[in-house]
Amino acid sequence: MTFRSVLLGVGAHLPDNVVTNDDLAARVDTSDQWIIERTGIRERRVAAVGEKTSDLAIKASERALQRAERTAADIDLIIVATATPDLTFPATAARVQAALGVTKGAAFDLQAVCSGFVFALATADNFLARGQARTALVIGAETFSRIVDWEDRGTCVLFGDGAGAVVLEAQTEAEAGERGLVKTYLRTDGRFHDLLYVDGGPSETGTVGKLRMQGNAVFRQAVEHISGAMTQTCADAGVGLDEVDWFVPHQANQRILDGVARRLSLNPEKIISTVSRHGNTSAASVPLALNEGVSDGRIRKGDLVLMEALGGGLTWGAALMRM
Ligand code: ACO
Repeated sequence: MTFRSVLLGVGAHLPDNVVTNDDLAARVDTSDQWIIERTGIRERRVAAVGEKTSDLAIKASERALQRAERTAADIDLIIVATATPDLTFPATAARVQAALGVTKGAAFDLQAVCSGFVFALATADNFLARGQARTALVIGAETFSRIVDWEDRGTCVLFGDGAGAVVLEAQTEAEAGERGLVKTYLRTDGRFHDLLYVDGGPSETGTVGKLRMQGNAVFRQAVEHISGAMTQTCADAGVGLDEVDWFVPHQANQRILDGVARRLSLNPEKIISTVSRHGNTSAASVPLALNEGVSDGRIRKGDLVLMEALGGGLTWGAALMRM
């Protein structure tokens, strides 16, 4: 028997500390105007000293569980998409599991950088579809402030911290009706490894390292691959892009969102954008934007939502979901 992964609830959490462009201009040679013109970012959140990725993930998960009207006792799968785990091991997901009081099933981290949430959704969907789990928490949580080089104006202005989570439940087609995850599309091309990476790690350097990026090249890859992933996902599902009610993109840069929208002739009013307030929160950005769209009433039950992302690897992908 196969099941459909139905979204029951979404939640999010952001650190309290707001860092504006002017705050950054006091640290590096940049300006509010440059950052807004090139990225659309006005501010981002930065975790306090001692505030960990797991802390953000736990709060986002508690909210998602509440919205889903489910408890820790229902959860039998936790996937945390993160490139900034609390520790090298054990998985941040194990900490989240313990803190929530979940005592069954599996909990593990998934690393696909900014594409992590889309990869985690697809992974959870495979568990649920095969009946290997019944109720999953899929989380994107990051503290990129810990791996950003705060002296590099080309990157430090782009990123922020945060977490978002969804509760997915395996339902039969009779239970789900039209609802559920319709299609996912995942790609990795390791030849682009050097466009975006962290120059540290336990095996290669024995350090944590800092983020390094060739911004222009990433930008070009992002517009091309994201557009391709969105088009292919809809084609695989047999729906037109014009049938999608809401686009929930990875929030890297407003110019990337605009570039994809132009290329695919998308209605800008159907695109959920939080990049001006969150910056790029990597794996957290899609669930943070989804949470915003659901919380403010734009995204409703029955709507067709297309999520997409591209990140280090390079990795990219999309997920089409009937809410
Ligand atoms: N403030 C002021 N000047 C800056 C800053 C800054 N914060 N950063 C770079 N500059 C300068 C550069 O030094 C350069 O100066 P020069 O001409 O004297 O050499 C000039 O601005 C132009 O630099 P570019 O890198 O060509 O600027 P660009 O228009 O490409 O914008 C940006 C840079 C915003 C990084 C853009 O390339 C981008 O957004 N790329 C996508 C990267 C991304 O989103 N990465 C996130 C991870 S992947 C993902 O999530 C999709």
